[in-house]
Amino acid sequence: MSAAEAAAAAADNVVIRDAVEEDTPRSVELFTYGSLAEGKEDPAEVALYRSALAEIDRGPGAVLVAEVEGQLVGVCQLIVFRHLQSRGGLCAEVESVHVHPDYRNHGIGTILMRAAVQRAQELGCYRVQLTSNIARPDAHRFYERLGFEPSHRGFKLKL
Ligand SMILES: CC(C)(COP(=O)(O)OP(=O)(O)OC[C@H]1O[C@@H](n2cnc3c(N)ncnc32)[C@H](O)[C@@H]1OP(=O)(O)O)[C@@H](O)C(=O)NCCC(=O)NCCS
Repeated sequence: MSAAEAAAAAADNVVIRDAVEEDTPRSVELFTYGSLAEGKEDPAEVALYRSALAEIDRGPGAVLVAEVEGQLVGVCQLIVFRHLQSRGGLCAEVESVHVHPDYRNHGIGTILMRAAVQRAQELGCYRVQLTSNIARPDAHRFYERLGFEPSHRGFKLKL
């Protein structure tokens, strides 16, 4: 089977699971492919990412990965936090959604995002939210198709 055929069949064979430590280098690789800012991610600093994953695993959130035939091809992070408003409800935020360039447009991102939303529901969250860089109109279309409404403007202050 050619690489293109393997990618086309990928959505049928995709497995979504929680990331484990061994997934860290490949996850960083996926972040790097999809990054808008060169140098933002540093594969040489994999220890920092490993320790971040260990900290995430101690909390209610998760890093989910998409695997096709043993190869990690997608990743996203689900952050879960307590609101004071909304009767002290639990809220979730999705960050760092990336699919390997060779596997895009085959439905893997959709499956990964649905799994993240389902996890948020299972954890009792009343809402899932996300921000996406204004330079990513293709990603915005992807999120809207999944039911996310572009109802707010995101603001960032770099520290
Ligand atoms: C966005 C992304 C996770 C979607 O994963 P995917 O497996 O390609 O998604 P699906 O196959 O389920 O859905 C396809 C849709 O994804 C979006 N998409 C495809 N390629 C994309 C790309 N290079 N960049 C951004 N979005 C893309 C499009 O909306 C596409 O639908 P279309 O037919 O209307 O063009 C993936 O394309 C990606 O990693 N993009 C680069 C990084 C990125 O933009 N991440 C989101 C940060 S907020």
